Amino acid sequence: RDIGVDAEGVIPEKVSRVGVVGAGLMGSGIAAACARRGLPTTMVDVEEKALGAGLGRIQEVIASRIRIGRATPEDMASALALLSTSTTPANVAGSDVVIEAVVEREEVKRELYQRMKQHLGPNTILASNTSTIAISTLAESAPSPERFVGMHFFNPVDRMALVEVIRGKETSDQTVATIVALAKRIKKTPIVVRDCAGFLVNRVLFPYLSEAVLLWLEGAAMDDVDRCATSFGMPMGPFLLHDVVGLDTAFYASGVMNQAYPDRSVKLDVLADLVKAGHLGQKTGRGFRKHEGRKRKPSA
Ligand code: NAI
Repeated sequence: RDIGVDAEGVIPEKVSRVGVVGAGLMGSGIAAACARRGLPTTMVDVEEKALGAGLGRIQEVIASRIRIGRATPEDMASALALLSTSTTPANVAGSDVVIEAVVEREEVKRELYQRMKQHLGPNTILASNTSTIAISTLAESAPSPERFVGMHFFNPVDRMALVEVIRGKETSDQTVATIVALAKRIKKTPIVVRDCAGFLVNRVLFPYLSEAVLLWLEGAAMDDVDRCATSFGMPMGPFLLHDVVGLDTAFYASGVMNQAYPDRSVKLDVLADLVKAGHLGQKTGRGFRKHEGRKRKPSA
């Protein structure tokens, strides 16, 4: 147990309103998780179309829970009543916590933080859902490094309980404690980890994913690799997982890992090739695999 990392014993701040920036795969899932647990939530995206698609995904998730008896139509109504959407970043003003879930590109995130400075109150916590970029690096552009932290959800957000809370060099105890409490309030299981590229989970996951792709490049069948992975207990195999994550996101995240760990991470040109060809995974109907009839509306 890493005493001092998890800010145990520190009283969390009250969170009454949440803002989510980025309404893609993750942002919409995070906004849904907050609204479903009674938190007024504003979801912002640069693209009107992405907001519509994000809202559609949220309704789909709650509707599927209603179908299996795990939610009621009233739950749907109350979650939607707590959710608002906007293309204006200023509309997250008044949130106690703003969770950033825009594309996995450092320059986009940094530029967004700079622009958001004017909209965030002095007491607002800014949390990034980045999968790989070190929090202390992004903190350089954050309005307040003490009130900046990683809050890394997993995909699909409605089914994955884990949330990594990443403490940057300057993140305060109060910020960590508040994000841990927020994660628990929305029924997630937070773990507090130290900062480095890929944090804990993706440092372990990326070598697994890239070795699977190497096996395929060396002649193994994707189906066999995915089937083996599920047979030893993974919820899905590495190729399907790539496609669910999105190959664009996987490509950007791999770039971060390649740069951070050049001695032991693999640069997979096939990812760049698939992205260039527009095969982004489930969201476009094709990635490593084909997803007939499963194509989701692109979020942007
Ligand atoms: P996505 O591509 O589905 O969504 C990104 C959204 O951000 C798009 O709707 C886009 O219009 C919007 N956006 C881009 N620039 C913006 C800006 N300046 N202001 C407002 N909105 C902007 O991507 P996804 O998969 O949701 O990933 C988002 C973040 O979550 C990334 O940092 C990614 O690494 C991380 N993440 C992704 C996971 C996954 O499985 N896809 C899992 C865990 C974390």
